[in-house]
Amino acid sequence: MLLHHSTWPAVEAYLRQSDGIIVPMGSTEQHGPTGLIGTDSITAQTVAQAIGEQCGALVGPTLSLGPAQFNLGFPGTVSLRPTTLIRVIVDYVQSLAGQGFRHFYFLNGHGGNLAPAQCAFQEIHAERSLGRGERQPVGFRLRSWWDYPEVNALRQRLYGSGEGMHATPSELAITRGLLPEACPPDDLPAPAVLAPDFMKRHGGDNHDDARAHRSRFPDGRVGSHSGLGLAEHGADLVVLAAQAGARDYAAFLAGREEKGA
Ligand code: NI
Repeated sequence: MLLHHSTWPAVEAYLRQSDGIIVPMGSTEQHGPTGLIGTDSITAQTVAQAIGEQCGALVGPTLSLGPAQFNLGFPGTVSLRPTTLIRVIVDYVQSLAGQGFRHFYFLNGHGGNLAPAQCAFQEIHAERSLGRGERQPVGFRLRSWWDYPEVNALRQRLYGSGEGMHATPSELAITRGLLPEACPPDDLPAPAVLAPDFMKRHGGDNHDDARAHRSRFPDGRVGSHSGLGLAEHGADLVVLAAQAGARDYAAFLAGREEKGA
């Protein structure tokens, strides 16, 4: 059930049986020479919608702009400052919390959203702790679709070190399955494999400025062998993510932590 495709009486009725909502988060940024600029938003929305269909959960509007300053040297990228995203998330959550929503499940498709999202959650908790927030507590869970153990295992099996960090074959496979006409063919060579230390230091898209980033990664891919991502892998990745996400969402509503999460 998509919020955008719902009426207010339908949302009011939904709130009588659930106080949970799934919020997809993506970005608008270059994804290498063959990846769509909307990749992170398209993948997050697709997985969120599939989870929502499995659990009967409401899916809110996709946050399709995120912090991607490091990609501004590539045409088409639109970036928010981290502080802007924090404010957007706070307003998004507080709008709905005032109507009775309590459980906010953020389904993420962009590493750069992770730190600001956690900050936004802390801002909301802090307002309540300081006596200025909602009268009822709200809860958050933040998951990136590729982190579910089953999805992670499949992408490692399919792509190994070719998965890399950006314009990954897994995310491009999903968009190629969904939008074959929009995606150009990809016979790009494998980029150099990233050192584990680099991946650790730059996790969550913790990159330098745009000029330095484009000069270091001139075609926009960060260690990802994008051509390995075949359209037929996309549906498998989405199905696994949706199954794992549906279990995790149910556990979240029931107040349980999922094992290994
Ligand atoms: Ni991406």
